[in-house]
Amino acid sequence: MIFYFSGTGNSYATAQFLSDKLGESLVDIGQAMKQNETEFLLKDGEKLGFVFPIYAWAPPKIVLDFVKRITIHCNEKPYTFGVCTCGQSAGNAIDILEEALGKKGFMLNSGFSVIMPDNYIVMFKVDSLAKQAEILNHAQETWKRIFWAINQKKSGFFRVKRGKLGGLLTKVVSPSFQRHATKTKPFHVTTSCIGCGLCQNVCTDSCIELKQGIPIWTKESCNMCLACINRCPQKAIEYGKRTKNKGRYFHPCLK
Ligand SMILES: Cc1cc2nc3c(=O)[nH]c(=O)nc-3n(C[C@H](O)[C@H](O)[C@H](O)COP(=O)(O)O)c2cc1C
Ligand code: SF4
Ligand code: SF4
Repeated sequence: MIFYFSGTGNSYATAQFLSDKLGESLVDIGQAMKQNETEFLLKDGEKLGFVFPIYAWAPPKIVLDFVKRITIHCNEKPYTFGVCTCGQSAGNAIDILEEALGKKGFMLNSGFSVIMPDNYIVMFKVDSLAKQAEILNHAQETWKRIFWAINQKKSGFFRVKRGKLGGLLTKVVSPSFQRHATKTKPFHVTTSCIGCGLCQNVCTDSCIELKQGIPIWTKESCNMCLACINRCPQKAIEYGKRTKNKGRYFHPCLK
């Protein structure tokens, strides 16, 4: 069973690849949290996997909240793995997952990072289409190596790009990101909005509502998955001034 969280499809595509190759079922953490699904049954021999994006060199809060909340029923301890997708580096995110799973009595056997196109348009510009294609091709090669390791049930096997000062960035930036950079107030729509409702449908935090055809953000802070702003077909959503005149990114599997 592979639990995944994804805003713009990189982690979903990664989880989907592993699910197909390993024959493991997929569970969307965003959906499970919305539906308050907390109990899961693992059959003998089934593996347990977590796939998620990196936010400020850590796992998204929703992933850690989910791990805390769930009960996994199983007869034997499953082979357990974690895969994070990131634009540059993962810091100590896999160690944080390992600690969270340890508290639930699961040992993380292996952990991996996959470099994929960066979707954090609040900070960065999106890569050119040619660069995106190059990164996605490379990611597919990484997926194959991850599959190989998981299929062999490699244990104590960690292939994570922590990045320069990765551990320090996790420690310092991640808490400050949670406090200051997850606010919804800067989100607003421009006159290009056609009221299609896609932003509401793809929101992983149920915090967008359409009032008279115009999206409004109903919570003070959110998952910051950036699904809404990156997937709007009209590029009608902005985050303050920081996303103005920047491109948008989502994985081709969502097209
Ligand atoms: C709020 C936020 C914070 C991010 N922080 C990092 C980071 O610290 N390091 C990094 O390499 N990528 C970072 N990224 C980029 C994403 O981890 C990367 O694009 C990921 O593959 C997106 O996955 P998804 O398409 O499944 O949502 C960040 C993205 C967002 C939205
Ligand atoms: S996805 Fe874009 S166009 Fe559609 S309702 Fe949301 S902001 Fe408007
Ligand atoms: S409001 Fe946008 S960024 Fe926030 S959780 Fe919803 S889709 Fe993600």
